[in-house]
Amino acid sequence: MNDPAARVRIFDTSLRDGEQSPGCSMTAAQKLRFAHALAELGVDALEAGFPASSDADRDAVRAIAREVRGSTVVTLARCHEGDIDACASALEGAAHPRIHVFISTSPLHREHKLGLSREQVLERAIMGVTRARRLVDDVEFSAEDALRTEPEFLAEICSAAIAAGATTLNIPDTVGYTTPSEIRALFEYLRAHVRDAEKAVFSAHCHNDLGLAVANSLAAIEGGARQVECTINGIGERAGNCALEELVMALRVRSHYYGAHTRIDSRRLVPTSRLLSRITGMAVQRNKAVVGQNAFAHESGIHQHGMLKHRGTYEIMRPEDVGWSQSQMVMGRHSGRAALADRLQALGFQLEEASLNRTFAAFKALAEKKREVFDADLEALVLGSDAVA
Ligand code: KIV
Ligand code: ZN
Repeated sequence: MNDPAARVRIFDTSLRDGEQSPGCSMTAAQKLRFAHALAELGVDALEAGFPASSDADRDAVRAIAREVRGSTVVTLARCHEGDIDACASALEGAAHPRIHVFISTSPLHREHKLGLSREQVLERAIMGVTRARRLVDDVEFSAEDALRTEPEFLAEICSAAIAAGATTLNIPDTVGYTTPSEIRALFEYLRAHVRDAEKAVFSAHCHNDLGLAVANSLAAIEGGARQVECTINGIGERAGNCALEELVMALRVRSHYYGAHTRIDSRRLVPTSRLLSRITGMAVQRNKAVVGQNAFAHESGIHQHGMLKHRGTYEIMRPEDVGWSQSQMVMGRHSGRAALADRLQALGFQLEEASLNRTFAAFKALAEKKREVFDADLEALVLGSDAVA
């Protein structure tokens, strides 16, 4: 990276891009509750909604703008006068309001979605940014489907957005189509070709259709992005958006490589993930990085043995640093004698060699029948035998 001590701003869009995806809708009260949690987590900006899309969204944004402090409150608008005015009105009372205007820029979207020429799209973008800038000081411009847009047109429209007053330029991979090397090169190109590029913060907004959203966002940072748009648990349209918890921990764990930091309180990642799950009813997959139930769980004998000697053998971050209380040794068919002895000791049993051997044999027999052997099963095994010393 060019600037070794870079700060990457975290822009959370769980309440907008996330909330608009199937299975994730929330009431205004739930959105407000979650916005407070995001501010406590330390996100720099939270996108509260799209006020022109529904009365419920407008009301939720209003409440968030009035109450939530510590993060910039952002609202989304198409480059339509009505949308932009609705944003400004919903944001009244916000300490740090931002209007985020967007328009599609790719040839496919221009022709089939908007029915507009390049010149007309450019004109609308300038109108949108100019109008938003009359209403608030902080304006973000997004070129929807940027990764399938001609790079020289993208540079032209970004230059025009800066001239009209945009202070953040967001480059969305709307359909999750790009790859790490491609998006990195695009950010480098834009930073070199956009006029007055240093006046704006470049932002990445990656969707996960090919499972590359986090990798692409990290590559965008290497190319010069200093804001990343993401969501808790990676919720979002179709396969979702860049997962905030994964991106933040990748920057933290690999800080010697990226030389970048965020202001996220990582110990709040698991509680925030669980809160979102409870609100939406959408479960987090068990093997999800960082916040999934298996993220710090070890079952195989070899791994458990390694972990008992040094946790660094099989963990690259500490569970406590992301909000789990500790690593979990799951007792099951693959577990070994060392892990069993350790678990029994934690449960208060000191077994002689022979007793431990008998208990281990009984445990293995039980583990063949049960997927997971719980502490109560182990206690019953020990107490039901003559193994207690
Ligand atoms: O994916 C996208 O292009 C978006 C924009 C509206 C920013 O969500
Ligand atoms: Zn999006």
